[in-house]
Amino acid sequence: MTTKRSPFHPELGVCYYPEQWPETQWEEDSQRMIEMGLSWVRIGEFAWSRLEPKPGEYQWGWLDRAIDILGKAGLKIVLGTPSATPPFWMVSRFPNMLGVGRDGQIRKFGSRRHYSFSHLGYRKAAAEMAEKLSERYGQNPYIRAWQVDNEYGCHDTTLSYDGSALQNYRGWLKEKYKNIQSLNEAWGNMFWSMEYPDFEAIDLPHQTVTEANPSHEMDFRRFTSDEVVAWNKSQVRALRTHSDYPIIHNYMGRILDFDHFDVGRDLDIASWDSYPLGFLEDRSDQDEGFKKAYARQGDPDFQAFHHDLYRAVGGGRWWVMEQQPGPVNWAPFNPAPLDDMVKLWTWEAIAHGAEVVSYFRWRQAPFAQEQMHSALLSTDAVDMPVVKEIEPLLDILKDLDPLATKPAKIAIVFDYASSWAWDIQPQGMSFNYFRLVLDLYSQLRKRGYSIDILPPDCDNFGKRDFVFIPGLLNWNTPLKKAMQNFQGKIILGPRSGSKTDNLSIPPATAPNLDAMPVKIRAVESLRPDSPVTLRGGGKALHWREFVQNKEADVLLSFEDDNPALLQKDNYFYLAAWYDAEAYSQLFEILNLSQEILPEGVRQRDIGNYSVLMNYNDQTQRVVFRGMNIDLLPAGVAIFGNQSGIFLEG
Ligand code: GAL
Repeated sequence: MTTKRSPFHPELGVCYYPEQWPETQWEEDSQRMIEMGLSWVRIGEFAWSRLEPKPGEYQWGWLDRAIDILGKAGLKIVLGTPSATPPFWMVSRFPNMLGVGRDGQIRKFGSRRHYSFSHLGYRKAAAEMAEKLSERYGQNPYIRAWQVDNEYGCHDTTLSYDGSALQNYRGWLKEKYKNIQSLNEAWGNMFWSMEYPDFEAIDLPHQTVTEANPSHEMDFRRFTSDEVVAWNKSQVRALRTHSDYPIIHNYMGRILDFDHFDVGRDLDIASWDSYPLGFLEDRSDQDEGFKKAYARQGDPDFQAFHHDLYRAVGGGRWWVMEQQPGPVNWAPFNPAPLDDMVKLWTWEAIAHGAEVVSYFRWRQAPFAQEQMHSALLSTDAVDMPVVKEIEPLLDILKDLDPLATKPAKIAIVFDYASSWAWDIQPQGMSFNYFRLVLDLYSQLRKRGYSIDILPPDCDNFGKRDFVFIPGLLNWNTPLKKAMQNFQGKIILGPRSGSKTDNLSIPPATAPNLDAMPVKIRAVESLRPDSPVTLRGGGKALHWREFVQNKEADVLLSFEDDNPALLQKDNYFYLAAWYDAEAYSQLFEILNLSQEILPEGVRQRDIGNYSVLMNYNDQTQRVVFRGMNIDLLPAGVAIFGNQSGIFLEG
């Protein structure tokens, strides 16, 4: 994986499916893309049945011609490997490659992602296809990057309970524990007489009478994540046989079932697919009032958080591979974005350091599953109004200096394994790791702070001032080193350091850290109607802890006298899940005293620029650097140190 790149001019692109349109159309499409100011086009990621209609019978001609036409028009091409859509003949060849749900049901052919990461026959076949593509196009001057597969984990396809998963899992366990006694010991299998006589006796942790052993579940999560890493690696290796072009994967929003940092280590650039309105309706914890207010704009922080997360996953380099262009087809409700909203989303991505923002998709398909999904062009190839949002954006981009992200003063550690742990044992239905982190992120962002996300094994926090480590299940050596060497403030908890890798309680009581000498003696989850109040304002929501403390200073307490915030030197411990008001108290104590921006307004700094964005459907007045700025609905203002203000909308 390469790290960092020198300052760059962000570019725009689009996703295109030449196989879905008559060949006579390609030339005109390419010309129109160029006229629109697009630089990149992504193709090929679902085209297996057209590339290899029968086993071993390849039809490269159409793809050769498509690449030629797009490339000659001046577009840079991202070519996808088609492994997310194995054709029917592949499934006939490997009937056991289909994924199996937690309910034990086989997931059938007829849509996409119908494969188990563990099926080695299909893994090999997919790598062979990737190698063929590399051989044929790996030096083609119009191809400038690869996309591996499409959205690992989308449609709930990471965890599969099929035969290959079982077989590989047993092997993985054998490798980890060497003998069955060690496994029985590590999992605590004397409990409920769950002891296994040998590895062959172990089944997958589903369809048990009541919950399976959390250690069994946790190992299965770790194993499954490793399978995704191995799957990705096998395609990367195949693509590398004949090509040096950067390799990218397009991750998804709030898909946490595999460790993206582990996958990202084998790739050159991270990218993700940003569908702000789809995500708000489909996978947000916000209440109905919030969803109504932001129905046409999306959650002002959800995309931003993923931009920061995937910048970290990409080691500094990241794109938006698919950007929502209008209504999608897959959420419970699919409203149209506010006018200029797609432009704002594009600026938000650019403000977080996206090298490329690519819209999904060029032209609306008149057939199949996504016929109700909008695009830049209608089914009859007329420009949709969103196209008008692209040109002014490009005009401003041209005038900006090249962009580069600087490390932010504030960082949050994000850990996929912690998400699995608290999924398996939430100890209260509203405890969700992603939500805990996003809540904190959002409180900071409302105050205009730019934030970095760090991987859980980060060994150096750099010159930052604050590092937050909420809900991290346990400590690892590199992270401990980073903490020890850090001069800034470290804010831990709740739940940090409370489990082992195996999801049991460690011998040393949480937070299990010498630098924070308190002991969490008990915890409780809270009903939504029964928060616990803090002195001085604010509440604990969902979760709080009972701390035994002799050495740390108590900075905030609950009304029942239990400590809510403790400090020892530069370490702080949050003994609860804070609400907005409690965070205000915390931020005051930490001296994170930037004022809260007006409702729905957000700011992100990139290079020498500050970008202000209005997520409201009404004009919002913002005072920035002593100036009164009226931001229109979906309006954006860009402030440069030297180059003055650019107002958009
Ligand atoms: C993404 C996917 C695309 C398309 C799009 C529709 O999840 O990568 O292929 O399905 O959603 O919004």
